[in-house]
Amino acid sequence: MDAHFASMFVLTLVHLLLHISAHDFLSPGSSLSVERNSDVLYSPDGSFTCGFYNISPNSSIFSVWFSNSTEKTIVWSANLHRPVYSWGSKVKLNIDGSMVLQDYSGQTVWTNNVSSSDAQEARLLESGNLIVKGQGDIILWQSFASPTDTLLPNQIINGTIKLVSSSSSNRLLFPGHYSFHFDDQHLLTLFDDEKDISFIYWPNPFINIWGKQRISFNTTMLGVLDNSGHFLGSDNASFMAADWGPGIMRRLTLDYDGNLRLYSLNQTHGTWLVTWMAFTQLCFVRGLCGMNGICVFTPKPACVCAPGLKISDPSDLSKGCKPRFRTSCDGKQKMRFMKLPTTEFLGYDQSTHKRVSLSTCKSICMSDCSCKGFSYWQGNGNCYPKSSLVGGVTVQWLPGSIYLKLPAALQVHESSIPQSQPFGRQYGPNCSAKDQYFIANFTDMSKGSQNESRYLYFYGFLSAIFFVEVILGALGWWFILRMEGRQLTGVWPAEAGYEMVTSHFRRYTYKELQRATRKFKDELGRGASGVVYKGILKDKRAVAVKKLVDISQCEEGFHHELSVISKIYHMNLVRVWGFCSDGSHRMLVSEYVENGSLDKMLFGSAGSQILLEWKQRFKIALGVAKGLAYLHHECLEWVIHCDMKPENILLDENLEPKITDFGLAKLLNRRGSNKNVSRIHGTRGYLAPEWVSSLPITAKVDVYSFGVVLLELLKGNRVSDWEKTEDEDDEVEKVLRRAARMLAENVKLQEGEGEGSKQSWIGDFTDSRLNGQFNHLQARAMIKLAVSCIDEDRNKRPTMENVSQKLLSIDE
Ligand SMILES: *[C@@H]1O[C@H](CO)[C@@H](O)[C@H](O)[C@H]1NC(C)=O
Ligand SMILES: *[C@@H]1O[C@H](CO)[C@@H](O)[C@H](O)[C@H]1NC(C)=O
Ligand SMILES: *[C@@H]1O[C@H](CO)[C@@H](O)[C@H](O)[C@H]1NC(C)=O
Ligand SMILES: *[C@@H]1O[C@H](CO)[C@@H](O)[C@H](O)[C@H]1NC(C)=O
Ligand SMILES: *[C@@H]1O[C@H](CO)[C@@H](O)[C@H](O)[C@H]1NC(C)=O
Ligand SMILES: *[C@@H]1O[C@H](CO)[C@@H](O)[C@H](O)[C@H]1NC(C)=O
Ligand SMILES: *[C@@H]1O[C@H](CO)[C@@H](O)[C@H](O)[C@H]1NC(C)=O
Ligand SMILES: *[C@@H]1O[C@H](CO)[C@@H](O)[C@H](O)[C@H]1NC(C)=O
Ligand SMILES: *[C@@H]1O[C@H](CO)[C@@H](O)[C@H](O)[C@H]1NC(C)=O
Repeated sequence: MDAHFASMFVLTLVHLLLHISAHDFLSPGSSLSVERNSDVLYSPDGSFTCGFYNISPNSSIFSVWFSNSTEKTIVWSANLHRPVYSWGSKVKLNIDGSMVLQDYSGQTVWTNNVSSSDAQEARLLESGNLIVKGQGDIILWQSFASPTDTLLPNQIINGTIKLVSSSSSNRLLFPGHYSFHFDDQHLLTLFDDEKDISFIYWPNPFINIWGKQRISFNTTMLGVLDNSGHFLGSDNASFMAADWGPGIMRRLTLDYDGNLRLYSLNQTHGTWLVTWMAFTQLCFVRGLCGMNGICVFTPKPACVCAPGLKISDPSDLSKGCKPRFRTSCDGKQKMRFMKLPTTEFLGYDQSTHKRVSLSTCKSICMSDCSCKGFSYWQGNGNCYPKSSLVGGVTVQWLPGSIYLKLPAALQVHESSIPQSQPFGRQYGPNCSAKDQYFIANFTDMSKGSQNESRYLYFYGFLSAIFFVEVILGALGWWFILRMEGRQLTGVWPAEAGYEMVTSHFRRYTYKELQRATRKFKDELGRGASGVVYKGILKDKRAVAVKKLVDISQCEEGFHHELSVISKIYHMNLVRVWGFCSDGSHRMLVSEYVENGSLDKMLFGSAGSQILLEWKQRFKIALGVAKGLAYLHHECLEWVIHCDMKPENILLDENLEPKITDFGLAKLLNRRGSNKNVSRIHGTRGYLAPEWVSSLPITAKVDVYSFGVVLLELLKGNRVSDWEKTEDEDDEVEKVLRRAARMLAENVKLQEGEGEGSKQSWIGDFTDSRLNGQFNHLQARAMIKLAVSCIDEDRNKRPTMENVSQKLLSIDE
């Protein structure tokens, strides 16, 4: 009897102990049930709670949340997108340390994948980290290693960790399309992940690495928010809470609207205050309004459909808008353009046209059925036809306008043209208009903006300069945008079909490139720097893969040079898509250019090749000059090509030239002195005299080489073939000098005689295959230019900028 009582007592005691202890930790074999509200774990100071959180009457998620905020704020969840039934579900810690979340049916919804012989307990730490502990305080698993959309102070974000936004509140079951993680350049980055393409929107993809004040390729890849509210990443990503200081509960959350915000908890009221955010102007978060949606300030940010379009799915506004009309590509349907002033859609450019008239831009878009509209910049005549309309925003100070392509028959009222009125009167849908457009209420935007306005107030209080900075920053953004002709649209990963220009390019694995090139079968050419192979990437893009030889650099140096090359984009420069640095393999992946190199076209054996006509030659000369001028003067870190020659000028399907192998001089020998570079680089016949003298190498060496190429373009054969020579030893340099003297004299002589005089010497010099079909004026100017380019005194040579201006001035 006593024994029975005693055992009963012990059992009850054990039961009681187990029950009480469940508030502190979970021991192996015990579980938390979804029904019992008391079945939760608290952190030692009670700030965090772990347990089941009801997201609707019948469904729950296993989560960690802040105990002291009035609305439960979830910091972590095991099954955010796969809730369990609110009855009969439980989470269990097994003897082996595996934590298993089971639905009422017993089905495993989530597990932490631990399998250990010495699991001790599961516990919620003061930091909000849920851990499974082994003997000797070893952490077998922790929730901090798999965050959802929130980072807590002291929670590390590293190369394997990714925050993904949740969806707007009515679509909890699906992950959002924004993410925060390290990118391929090891920068902490916000991504907008569209269906098969990701756009970088923070840090501003339009500014270079110096403007971003980040450090790329730091292999550490670490970021952490400290107890004082200061975030610091290994890439120098850095920001600080406005209420900086210890003793405040904070969280860094990638919100469903794509804005990364730092919040502080007001302990007395249990409310959250935004103390930092990546975007003070929400409309600049990319893709906020979905397909065909345009973000406007009303003054609160809101979404409207572009005119002639309607909401795709009223239950999910993030899906954006769809057309209210059908388009047919049979050419019978009459289309027109509707202007949306000071509006921009980002990305999805089909092509780029500079200095064209509005009507040219219209006809470009009109003639292409897949063109949905275009962006046009009145000031400089930049024209960007678009294949998709995403990331729309309307703000008064945008310099460009969108011209939307609509069926001529479609009635669209003027009042449906979106406008932003950040300071003006409230902007609302015109319900009396026939084509009323919809303002997408961001469901909890009202809450958010309340916080934001308070935050702005906070900042205004701290520093009035801040606001000015925001405006300047924003202006700088568009200024750079305009300067670069929006060629740096941030598209990632590079996908076919659009102009996918970005400051980020891809790293490829050796295997990938091996597959793409079918084990390096199709050789396109070879040079001093390596062999080039043709390849087809998985996305069907044709690429040229160059296997680099003699890389004398450490990985970081290689990466640094690559990061320079990756940012170079110009229509007359071959676009480098990415690289491979895998074991001992070093490769560059660049666009495949259709028509091969200029030498094959220009010096090809007679009859076997298409003859380049005069106009084409002039276009090539101009394009190469522009490309080099860009390298020398315009791009972010000036680059000397060092090996200009026809072999390095590729021709696309329109015979537009594209310079290749730029940046290789540096890539192949970073630390070497100029002299070493000369040993590796440059080709006889195109080498400026200073290569052999001890003068420093400047951009003028490229001007010299360009001069030689220009003469070869005119003459149609190589300098080395100019004098089929009695004297085998006669050096090509001497031939060139003689030719230069002769030409210089002729130019001078003729200038004395006046414009109208006979110019037979020009006819003698130019390619006989042209049969005199050339523009004398242009030819003379080009000869004069070429002669000045190959001047032995580099100071007398023009710059590439001068050269391209001169050529432009004689363009027809
Ligand atoms: C929850 O489940 C109960 C019983 O299964 C059902 O009657 C009720 O309609 C459900 N409630 C909701 C909101 O789905
Ligand atoms: C948070 O709330 C819990 C109870 O809900 C309380 O015990 C704890 O002291 C509070 N923590 C702070 C830091 O106020
Ligand atoms: C556990 O493993 C499964 C299957 O490999 C995986 O899908 C799941 O993400 C893992 N869970 C965790 C918490 O790592
Ligand atoms: C990232 O951090 C988590 C824990 O915070 C760790 O488990 C993981 O191994 C880390 N990854 C790398 C690549 O360091
Ligand atoms: C790192 O960031 C700080 C400010 O955020 C800036 O002053 C500094 O120049 C940056 N360093 C680099 C190398 O960009
Ligand atoms: C890389 O990041 C780590 C950690 O933040 C830092 O200590 C180190 O100095 C950084 N390295 C470089 C080259 O900036
Ligand atoms: C908390 O919020 C209330 C009301 O907004 C405010 O009066 C109070 O100063 C706040 N406390 C802190 C610590 O910010
Ligand atoms: C609303 O639309 C009607 C015609 O549909 C127009 O007459 C009226 O001016 C519009 N109102 C505003 C405020 O734009
Ligand atoms: C937007 O939200 C407000 C309040 O949240 C509501 O009154 C209004 O009807 C909503 N408008 C639309 C178009 O849904």
